[in-house]
Amino acid sequence: MSADKSTSWSYAEDLPAEDEVMLRARERSFELGVTPVGPGVGAVLTVLAASSKAQTAVEVGTGAGVSGVCLLRGLGRQSVLTTIDVDVEHLKAAREAFAEAGSPANRTRTISGRAGDVLPRLTDAAYDLVFLDADKPGLPGYVEQAIRLLKPAGLLIINDALDKDKVSNPAGREATTVVLRQVGKAIRDDERLASAMLPTGDGLLVAVKK
Ligand SMILES: C[S@@+](CC[C@H](N)C(=O)[O-])C[C@H]1O[C@@H](n2cnc3c(N)ncnc32)[C@H](O)[C@@H]1O
Repeated sequence: MSADKSTSWSYAEDLPAEDEVMLRARERSFELGVTPVGPGVGAVLTVLAASSKAQTAVEVGTGAGVSGVCLLRGLGRQSVLTTIDVDVEHLKAAREAFAEAGSPANRTRTISGRAGDVLPRLTDAAYDLVFLDADKPGLPGYVEQAIRLLKPAGLLIINDALDKDKVSNPAGREATTVVLRQVGKAIRDDERLASAMLPTGDGLLVAVKK
């Protein structure tokens, strides 16, 4: 492995070509002060959703819909994306993005509320994919909920899992960093899962339920 991969990382991150729908969703994210997934993570979400032939997906942290559009573009035609956010303005912007992406309203279930309140109400072993992109302190609980929600062979995906290079630095002791480090190790050691840490974006932790 070459010593400095930063040039290749930047190239890979920016390689996906994004269309007008995605660029408008990014603009709305910016206006609302939401940080959306980058193009590299977005492309991986589409690939994972398509390759796993997922029909039912849950997203925690809708934002203005950038990651949701990426997931919808990979999910099958009959699939349903359930996406959760505490902020109704974010959900409104996301619904605009989903409509612009040509997704029929019945393919998305947008739920307003805290993930900690909403996830326990969703059905056991009914989902093919769970994507977590909100509220890092709540992650340990969301991961347990995700394992309950996933069918066998279902995918768990966690965004920002390397926390801007802070997780890999043992001196990084911020609360969020510590949670992400613990969650990464707990998932690695969890016998119910097989996992891999992708360096895409700020780290994309991917695990499959055995
Ligand atoms: C990083 S943004 C999500 C970006 C989105 N995934 C995308 O790529 O477009 C995080 C979102 O999580 C929402 N959020 C924060 N805490 C939450 C919680 N406890 N439950 C549900 N949503 C939450 C915020 O309102 C925000 O829209």
